[in-house]
Amino acid sequence: MRLIIQPDYDKLSLWAAKYVAECINNNKPTAEKPFVLGLPTGSSPIGMYKALIELNKRGEVTFENVITFNMDEYVGLPKGHPQSYYTFMWENFFNHVDIKPENTNILDGLTEDPKVECEQFEEKIMACGGIDLFVGGIGPDGHIAFNEPGSSLSSRTRLKTLTKDTILANSRFFDNDVNKVPKTALTVGVGTVLDSKEVMILVNGANKSQALYQAIEGGVTHMWTVSALQMHEKGIIVCDDAATHDLKVGTYRYFKDIESDNLLMVS
Ligand code: GLP
Repeated sequence: MRLIIQPDYDKLSLWAAKYVAECINNNKPTAEKPFVLGLPTGSSPIGMYKALIELNKRGEVTFENVITFNMDEYVGLPKGHPQSYYTFMWENFFNHVDIKPENTNILDGLTEDPKVECEQFEEKIMACGGIDLFVGGIGPDGHIAFNEPGSSLSSRTRLKTLTKDTILANSRFFDNDVNKVPKTALTVGVGTVLDSKEVMILVNGANKSQALYQAIEGGVTHMWTVSALQMHEKGIIVCDDAATHDLKVGTYRYFKDIESDNLLMVS
């Protein structure tokens, strides 16, 4: 696994955006063979989305032949709800780039049959040839998408009950009222993420430092689902300095050294 340590959130975001753009451009996507991109919500990717919008405006990347699949969606929130992940994606990204609406895929939190909705999502990913690059964030407990501690590391897209910790962490988006936070969500599984050709996880802030430590220095365990990335052929974590607080000094120096030529992709 690669660990890219950036000094701050802005540089982390720019690095991640440039990496996404580079992957799309290297792939030379066409309408017949589009690039398939997995995307997250949350506060972590907002800077990356802003930087990608800028790169798109400058003509350095186009989303014309990009198909997206979002990681997750709350159950019970209509698309138009201000805190639905649908609203998040359109407000923070899709509305500002040249992506075709029909190429965006977000699980329907109001579906009458979650099982069918999740199965169809997996089938659609397969029909598109699989995900080329899955970008994700993590919760302070190390969850990717909504794969809470204890989730199977080979799980697929399904309905999940959120933990109290996640409900509390996400209540900041719901007037700090835990009762307003949905208790369940539809989410891709850890196995769905691991099936992608590449995975890039963004980790920023001191409150994620224990999760980063577990992901890099801990063993593979379902209690920190991000640690499954150790099993992936092409896994990258991009973090800021603040998130490295719990890493050993030697680990920090090792990754700074081994990636020294690649840290300055941002300009
Ligand atoms: C939610 C999402 C995750 C996200 C996490 C962290 O739980 N389901 O995909 O990674 O929040 O969010 P933030 O980036 O706001 O810390």
